[in-house]
Amino acid sequence: MIRGVRTIFTRGRHHRKATEKKQKGSVFAILSALKSLGLPSLNRRLIWVASCSLVSGLSQAALLVIISELAVSRVQGSKNFKFHGLSISLRDSLLACVALLVLYFTTSILSAYSSSSLSSAAVEGSRSTVIHSFFASSWELQSTERLGHVQQLLTVNCDNIGWIAISIAGGIQAILAALALLIAAFIVEPLTASIVVVAGVVLSCVMRPFLQWSRRASIRLSNDSQRMATLVTEYTRLVREFRLFGVDELATDILDKRNHDAAISYRRSRLLGQASPVIYQTLALGFIIVGLAIFLGHSGKTLGSTGAILVLTLRSLTYGSQIQGNSQQLRAFQGFLDGVQRDIYQYKVNSVNFNGNKIPETYDVTFDSVSYAYQAGTEVLRNLSFYLPTGNILGVVGRSGSGKSTLSQLVLGMRTPSTGQVLLGDVPAASVAKGDGASPIAFVAQESILLQGSIASNISFFRDVSQEQIEAASRAAHLHDDVIGMTRSYKTLVGEGGGALSGGQRQRLAIARALVGAPRVLVLDEPTSALDGRSEFLIRRTLSELRGHVTVIVISHRLATVEDCDLLLVLETGNLADFGPRGQIVHGAAFRHVVQAAVAGSTNLA
Ligand SMILES: Nc1ncnc2c1ncn2[C@@H]1O[C@H](COP(=O)(O)OP(=O)(O)OP(=O)(O)O)[C@@H](O)[C@H]1O
Ligand SMILES: [Mg+2]
Repeated sequence: MIRGVRTIFTRGRHHRKATEKKQKGSVFAILSALKSLGLPSLNRRLIWVASCSLVSGLSQAALLVIISELAVSRVQGSKNFKFHGLSISLRDSLLACVALLVLYFTTSILSAYSSSSLSSAAVEGSRSTVIHSFFASSWELQSTERLGHVQQLLTVNCDNIGWIAISIAGGIQAILAALALLIAAFIVEPLTASIVVVAGVVLSCVMRPFLQWSRRASIRLSNDSQRMATLVTEYTRLVREFRLFGVDELATDILDKRNHDAAISYRRSRLLGQASPVIYQTLALGFIIVGLAIFLGHSGKTLGSTGAILVLTLRSLTYGSQIQGNSQQLRAFQGFLDGVQRDIYQYKVNSVNFNGNKIPETYDVTFDSVSYAYQAGTEVLRNLSFYLPTGNILGVVGRSGSGKSTLSQLVLGMRTPSTGQVLLGDVPAASVAKGDGASPIAFVAQESILLQGSIASNISFFRDVSQEQIEAASRAAHLHDDVIGMTRSYKTLVGEGGGALSGGQRQRLAIARALVGAPRVLVLDEPTSALDGRSEFLIRRTLSELRGHVTVIVISHRLATVEDCDLLLVLETGNLADFGPRGQIVHGAAFRHVVQAAVAGSTNLA
């Protein structure tokens, strides 16, 4: 199947799968999603949280029973704590209370520590999984990913996954604390405890729809926030154009609309978050009134057990409310988890396949009946065959949209041909080694993106190269003289967009970055189209100096840039219209057509 089509297909297929998964969405599904998102130690951490919470809950329940019974005993004039026939002195009772308090405090703090470290591990693990899977995905997918999307995944979505972990841990803490109180309540007064349990079950059934509404609201909120974030990222890069074309108000209107949509989803989600506890508390208090009426009508109970049961029930109401709050929060953030899962799945099914890390013995380039289609049935390159000997410079020309950049991506192995093969020596281009910063193929794009940092770090580009190698590459790119004229020389900082350098210097820096890895094949896609005469001249000199050592493919609209090429290839709407030695091709009809089209369109190939 054609690769581009497969990408679209896998996205669509997954979307359906993700939607089906959403229907399930049980707590177990959430736990297994968290585990797959880089949190393999989830079970161990939850068991630890649960153990601490249970001990803390039991110690609290015992403490409450002793305090309430002790208080009532005092009112009744007794000095001892009486419980199920036991009589313990006031001093021993108080000592037990202090011991229980210390146990409660220690286990509660341990439980809080475990749940916060669980949540930070969830954020770290999910971020790491997003980063690794995105960077390992294919260029077909990476190149279509919208600006700001990955950023949004890593920030808002992953932060909310941390909240999901907190909600789960908080839910476990509250459930176990409530359970401990109920155990105590059963010991003190089984009838009322049973009523509390029945009431709890009824309450959770009544509250169930709220959880589902919450979940749906959170999915909508996640999607709307994603759309808002990607649009803002795109638009902030276009502010200059918006101002110049006088459309900034229209652009901000669109942003306002997205912002408004996101705000509506936010309000829905938050309303559910705020209203649910109130509904829960009201219903629970109603149950307590009914329970109390039954209890008071039930004769034969001591004042002490009445006090204890009231304290335990009211306290379990607080935990019930916490359980409800945590479930609500879990649902409210689940949409963000779904979003991360969906995207990671896409990245993984479309992960890059290097088919090994082969190093070719020679660096001649062969196109053997190569066709390529981004979408089925629409070939943008058709049956291309040509041979470029090692160390030669090939110029590729053609009208806009004729397939030049697509051809360059096939040579780089970023895309694989739909039919036919592209070989470097005798190795398919996609199988050529790219790991360990030692790729024999280098690329210079029309617009080079610089990292925030020094000129030196932008040339070395994470690779382990010496200052001598950096300077040698910079000399070869004819950048060195410009750099040593700067106050901080190679330590000069360049901004995010390379602000401290001119366009020509930036492009020569990109060439130095390409050359520092000692490439055997260099591909340049429109390297000089936006440059001044001097920079263009220097780049042409660089390319000429590489002749014989490096196989060069240069795509250009400018006649001057392809003047020094050994061979020329003319593309016409995806077909190879002409190919051969430059001196011969420039007199051919195909080349003249391109030049005429360039003149008519006032572009540079004239
Ligand atoms: N990612 C993509 N998805 C679908 N179609 C694409 C994609 N990239 C390019 N195309 C299509 O492929 C054809 C060739 O595009 P390509 O970018 O290779 O042309 P080009 O010769 O480099 O043009 P230019 O001189 O304007 O840069 C065009 O019709 C374009 O619409
Ligand atoms: Mg192009």
